[in-house]
Amino acid sequence: MHLRDGAALKTVVPHTAAQFARAIVMPNLRPPITTAEQALAYRARILEAVPHGVPFEPLMTLYLTDRLPPEEITRAARAGVVACKLYPAGATTHSDAGVTDLRHISATLEAMQREGMPLLVHGEVTSPDIDLFDREAVFIERHLVGLRRDFPELKIVLEHITTREAAAYVREAGPLTAATITAHHLLYNRNALFTGGIRPHYYCLPVLKREIHRQALIEAATSGDSAFFLGTDSAPHAAHLKEHASGCAGCYTAHAAIEMYTEVFDAAGALDKLEAFASFHGPDFYGLPRNTGRIQLRRESWLPPERFAFGDGELKPLRAGENLPWRMVSH
Ligand code: DOR
Repeated sequence: MHLRDGAALKTVVPHTAAQFARAIVMPNLRPPITTAEQALAYRARILEAVPHGVPFEPLMTLYLTDRLPPEEITRAARAGVVACKLYPAGATTHSDAGVTDLRHISATLEAMQREGMPLLVHGEVTSPDIDLFDREAVFIERHLVGLRRDFPELKIVLEHITTREAAAYVREAGPLTAATITAHHLLYNRNALFTGGIRPHYYCLPVLKREIHRQALIEAATSGDSAFFLGTDSAPHAAHLKEHASGCAGCYTAHAAIEMYTEVFDAAGALDKLEAFASFHGPDFYGLPRNTGRIQLRRESWLPPERFAFGDGELKPLRAGENLPWRMVSH
């Protein structure tokens, strides 16, 4: 998920820590987190924003660029950095420093493979000639299949998958390939972007897809297959930058993500599969111990706040002003 930096941390970190005992923290700050030292300094800033007495472990990542040296991977692994994120340059928010060609990062990927450090992938091509809704499926064909073949021992997580093609690929790709699925891609199809007018708070990347894809994601998430696990990609932006002529991509769900996932699993009749999706498959894939704490959710309608303070601006969460049918009552 995206925690951002500076004043934003004061809003986002307490929400996150109230829901999750740890989180994989995306490195797409400006400038991006590209060294072990920066990751540790960012981690310290995050920890300062954790409310007193709340246990929360930020799991740090590095941002791959065309020039990230392989030696930095070794330093990062020693510093406890858990993964590196691949943003194809231009694919999404703050990805301009990202990778322009996978051939530029071969030595770095080899170092990651050696260290057992997972590669987290924003899986979309960036070519303007590829339809926005096809960019994930085309990325799999053009890049992921080759990456998987060339680095057979590298752990790869295809992040925030949105298509039936991605779910099918990951299901067949073997034990070193996994995928995360967001709450918003499980809850909504692309109609949500246009119902009654253009609705910027439903805009994220990869963009919401057709209903057949949402159904494929629900099937994957609730299947019990350990290749699929929770990853919110919660991405806060100030409301005025989303409600804008070229609004920012990102849905903010950190305040109520677990309740949203619960709603989806309940509607699919698969509440018994929720715990493993949320709490077992991810740490098992990363080789981290499972958390031992427990949370309790109750079927109880409640209304989350419509907006939160966010630095100098405000933050409107996904589904602002709507009741949620499940509520976390203890942790
Ligand atoms: O919608 C998104 N927002 N997708 C991403 O990949 C990045 C994120 C952000 O950082 O805002």
